[in-house]
Amino acid sequence: MELINNHPNFDIEVTDDTSVENLKLKLKNCDGASIRIAKLPGEVIEEAKNLKIISRHGVGYDNIDLEKAKEKDIKIAITANANAVTVAEHVMFVLLNIAKRKGLYDKTVRDGNFKDRNKLPKMIEIWKKNFLIMGFGRIGKALIKRCLGFEMNVFVYDPFVEKERIEELGGKKVDDLKEAVKTMDVVSLHMPLTDKTENLINYDLLKTMKKNCIIVNAARGGIIHEEDLDKALNENLIFGAAIDVFKKEPPDNNNPLLKNDKVFLSPHTAAFTDECMTRMGKETIQNLIDFFENKIDQSKIVKL
Ligand SMILES: NC(=O)c1ccc[n+]([C@@H]2O[C@H](COP(=O)([O-])OP(=O)(O)OC[C@H]3O[C@@H](n4cnc5c(N)ncnc54)[C@H](O)[C@@H]3O)[C@@H](O)[C@H]2O)c1
Repeated sequence: MELINNHPNFDIEVTDDTSVENLKLKLKNCDGASIRIAKLPGEVIEEAKNLKIISRHGVGYDNIDLEKAKEKDIKIAITANANAVTVAEHVMFVLLNIAKRKGLYDKTVRDGNFKDRNKLPKMIEIWKKNFLIMGFGRIGKALIKRCLGFEMNVFVYDPFVEKERIEELGGKKVDDLKEAVKTMDVVSLHMPLTDKTENLINYDLLKTMKKNCIIVNAARGGIIHEEDLDKALNENLIFGAAIDVFKKEPPDNNNPLLKNDKVFLSPHTAAFTDECMTRMGKETIQNLIDFFENKIDQSKIVKL
């Protein structure tokens, strides 16, 4: 906020009330807006007659009515440089936690059962294991370096990235997802939620995976079918999962994943490090300023 509060060309208003009625009122005369996860439906955008730019705190923008923004030629900017490394670190963190059965071993000591450690189910290594990165954008590219650091075999599924680029960065391109998942030890999602990716990971696909496979979703809820994942875990079809994002956020209390202890959960916080939040905050506001000063890096503007 300091970046823009001290700027002579902007008048700023901050609101915590993200109801449609309040946003309609607050955005009525605004030239620019910055939002995190609040929903910006078409009816709000429609009434924001002066709005020229929406600066998202983050890289996803599925909370904005894109058709309406396009129709009104309102640009959407994202914090493209801020969070890839942080999310990639989160993936390694949850992966190792699941593979090393962190919760179970930790609890064993705390419960005074140290001497029973030989009776515990064994941990698994990630060395030389097959890791499939689905979606090879900013986060996928940050993740591959970390996977290679652990000497994993990295495969990439992203129909929009060329084989040569993937190989240059140390991965192997896969074209047939159904075939590829059969031999993977880890599958990590890093693509947007679209008509094509919604429920892409469903029971039919899960049942073809290896029994020791670990799935990570720190992309968007809805790409994995939650009930199907719960079923697959309960039937021991896969080893475990880490879920940072949910179809509905916050998830309902009766979401089965909340009761499944084979799932490592986090509340959409893969990017919540101190460093990353500072970078994202600064970049969100700098994007607004740069837009009005006609110097925004065009790669940060979403192509609608
Ligand atoms: N959990 C969090 O806090 C958090 C933080 C940042 C980003 N995200 C999410 O992570 C995802 C990736 O972010 P990013 O910054 O790397 O995005 P990006 O736009 O840089 O990369 C996305 C990649 O997905 C690929 N893709 C698109 N459709 C595909 C499909 N059908 N199959 C396979 N690949 C496909 C694109 O070609 C692109 O390379 C997004 O969904 C974003 O919203 C979540």
